[in-house]
Amino acid sequence: MTDKNNPNLGNEQHILHPATSITQLLEKGPRIIERGKGVHIYDDTGHKLIDGIAGLWCVNVGYGRTEIAEAMATGASELGYYHTFGAMSNQPQIELSQTLIDMTPAKLTKVFFGSSGSDANDTLVKIVWHYNNLKGREKKKKIISRMNAYHGTSISAASLTGLKGFHNAFDLPIKNILHTDCPHYYRYHGVGESEEEFSARMAQNLENMIIAEGPDTVAAFIAEPIMGAGGVINPPKGYFKAIKAVLKKYDILMIADEVICGYGRLGVGFGSELYDIEPDMMATAKGLTSGYFPMSASFISDEIWQVLKYGSETLGGFSHGYTYSGHPIGARVANVNLGLIKSEKLIENAASTGAYLHNQLNERFKNHAHIGEVRGHGLLAAIQLIADKEKKVFFDPALKLPARILEACYERGLVVRALPSVTSVALSPPLIINKAQVDDIIDRLIDGVDAVIKTLSQDELKGI
Ligand SMILES: Cc1ncc(COP(=O)(O)O)c(C=O)c1O
Repeated sequence: MTDKNNPNLGNEQHILHPATSITQLLEKGPRIIERGKGVHIYDDTGHKLIDGIAGLWCVNVGYGRTEIAEAMATGASELGYYHTFGAMSNQPQIELSQTLIDMTPAKLTKVFFGSSGSDANDTLVKIVWHYNNLKGREKKKKIISRMNAYHGTSISAASLTGLKGFHNAFDLPIKNILHTDCPHYYRYHGVGESEEEFSARMAQNLENMIIAEGPDTVAAFIAEPIMGAGGVINPPKGYFKAIKAVLKKYDILMIADEVICGYGRLGVGFGSELYDIEPDMMATAKGLTSGYFPMSASFISDEIWQVLKYGSETLGGFSHGYTYSGHPIGARVANVNLGLIKSEKLIENAASTGAYLHNQLNERFKNHAHIGEVRGHGLLAAIQLIADKEKKVFFDPALKLPARILEACYERGLVVRALPSVTSVALSPPLIINKAQVDDIIDRLIDGVDAVIKTLSQDELKGI
């Protein structure tokens, strides 16, 4: 049945789309994606697009992987589902846990499976609270996140997220979640302030917040190694070293949210390795299954696990979990996906082709009047739009340039991600991408950016 008032919508009228303006959906209708192969997707008009963002930063092994399809088919016919409550298990999740613990940062020795990045963070928030209650530190509950961070949209994950749009009119953030500075050096550094000095200031501000709140009330700090949806913000030099020192001083746990960075996107296994984060806890999802199955993995250190074990002795069990925790088909998909990443050397490719991507972006945008900075690492990147490069005047957000560039690129056969909070456009292509395809992405991106810039008036070009 189609919507008589809006022929664009058809059966879509029944769907409340995530992160979508309902008024825009009503005006324009949805875009239907029909299939994908390699780094390309095809919409229902037959338009072929290079997927410069790998779905939502996740289709790391690319589209149309028959190896994964076969694993799903075998899994569905052998054991379509069985739960893992009450010590029930299955072979695929046991195999997966071994692979994961071998590849994740050293301190992390135990894994909990869920279905999304949001629930992975939710699980860690609950474990932080549970851990401190079991240790008799009932007051130590606050978790410090950062402005512009993105950690998901469930109640606690949306609270950790530091983007106002995810809090407005939702009664969020919940209590006990605070936000410290966004460490975006380009935007926020003072005159003559070096990256190291800026990092020291960020760490000092964090320490001031901890002291003001009371160190005995602060339990954990959470950070993406490179902030994703909030702008692809690299940590400035010395940032995590300075932050770690503060956390150590006040006995505060470090949580790494590796939902985007994990499983090779930055050209190393995990962003925590690249920046020597040494997390006590870590959230992962997306690249774990390359998006073929909704699955997450949250990791904890042995020290935390020992406290949870004590909890089982005193309370009777670890009372947390989901119907789909350790799903046997999801675990099979993850095993095959991680196998492909290894056998096809996709992490190595993310390092080498990622370096090429950054070289080319820097080279080709360096003389562009309205690109102020190229950020990211490996196969994760963003370009910063700017009205006046010399005076560092940013564009008026009301111009909605990232969304307009997204549209212009779509017309030119490229999918990018708009990052409106920082007036930037992001790239995060599948890890199978090659250099020729990177060139193709950059050609289309430049074309799309210039087409939109050309439509701006002289006043708009001068910024706010
Ligand atoms: C860093 C990070 N954490 C958490 C999430 C939430 O993941 P999900 O959408 O699977 O709940 C995302 C999603 O983009 C993310 O980028």
